[in-house]
Amino acid sequence: MYNAFFGFSETPFSLSPDPAFFYRSEQHEEALANLVYGVQARKGFIVLSGEVGTGKTTMLECLRDYLESQYIEFAFLFNSRVNTDQFFEMIAYDLDLPCQRTSKTEVLFALNQLLVEQAQDGRTVVLIVDEAHNLEWEVLEEIRLLGNLENRNGKLLQIILAGQPELDRKLDAPNLRQLKQRIVLRCNLQPFTLRDAVEYIESRLDRAGAPNQTIFSEELMAEIHVRAQGIPRVINALCDNLLLTAFAVESKVCTHDMLDEVCRDMRLEWPGSRRSRSRASTEAFERTPY
Ligand SMILES: Nc1ncnc2c1ncn2[C@@H]1O[C@H](COP(=O)(O)OP(=O)(O)OP(=O)(O)O)[C@@H](O)[C@H]1O
Ligand SMILES: [Mg+2]
Repeated sequence: MYNAFFGFSETPFSLSPDPAFFYRSEQHEEALANLVYGVQARKGFIVLSGEVGTGKTTMLECLRDYLESQYIEFAFLFNSRVNTDQFFEMIAYDLDLPCQRTSKTEVLFALNQLLVEQAQDGRTVVLIVDEAHNLEWEVLEEIRLLGNLENRNGKLLQIILAGQPELDRKLDAPNLRQLKQRIVLRCNLQPFTLRDAVEYIESRLDRAGAPNQTIFSEELMAEIHVRAQGIPRVINALCDNLLLTAFAVESKVCTHDMLDEVCRDMRLEWPGSRRSRSRASTEAFERTPY
């Protein structure tokens, strides 16, 4: 809506996990390098965890681009609320396995065939499961069994589980200790530091066609970082709403007042915000014994 006004060729702060806008903070760079290494070195299980909105799906999309560029076969499951039958059907569909896709036995047979063939050619196959914190126990157990397939050069199937911190807690459960033991690589995404947040905002604006931007001052970006608590998705939402607000008053500069208004509209809370302070005092009041 405001792209022409600001001279953008694309919307800079979209909420989609678009790898074209990928900002390589040190930790994002390291996590992606770990994922690629884990696949190349046939490490088997890799876990990518991080709070809501820290960039896990975006990173998996970057990995998808890498796998495609290397012609590595992969299945990408983004809906993890599935039972075991649906799980195998989705794998068969993604890997285009020549079998009766509703039969777990046939899928396993065809998958094994594919893994062995690929291994003979010195190649590997990857299974990516996003939102893995939602996986049912039975499906996690099936995943563990798939991870057992190996030859003398390493695991035949590389399995990447990505999810919110509940995933780590789930993997700590006693009945999953066999799976936990097999996880050789772990990557974690933390919220952005202030420096990352500023570079992140500027890199998205640059990518959208506004290098050397003057829309957001350093101070405003610092305040955005505080209020978004370093979470990229919240930074995007704040910046997008700020641009819209500035556009509405035909201003090419976003201000602190605009940020206050946007935060009110979004009902955003951050440590020290009036809303969070008043909630804390209400809770304290409710806890006060008479
Ligand atoms: N390193 C990054 N570079 C560019 N954009 C990013 C980066 N990290 C996150 N984002 C942006 O932040 C938003 C949220 O990212 P994403 O959906 O990948 O988070 P997530 O960790 O998968 O969240 P959830 O836990 O809700 O699934 C997206 O708009 C995405 O484009
Ligand atoms: Mg995600």
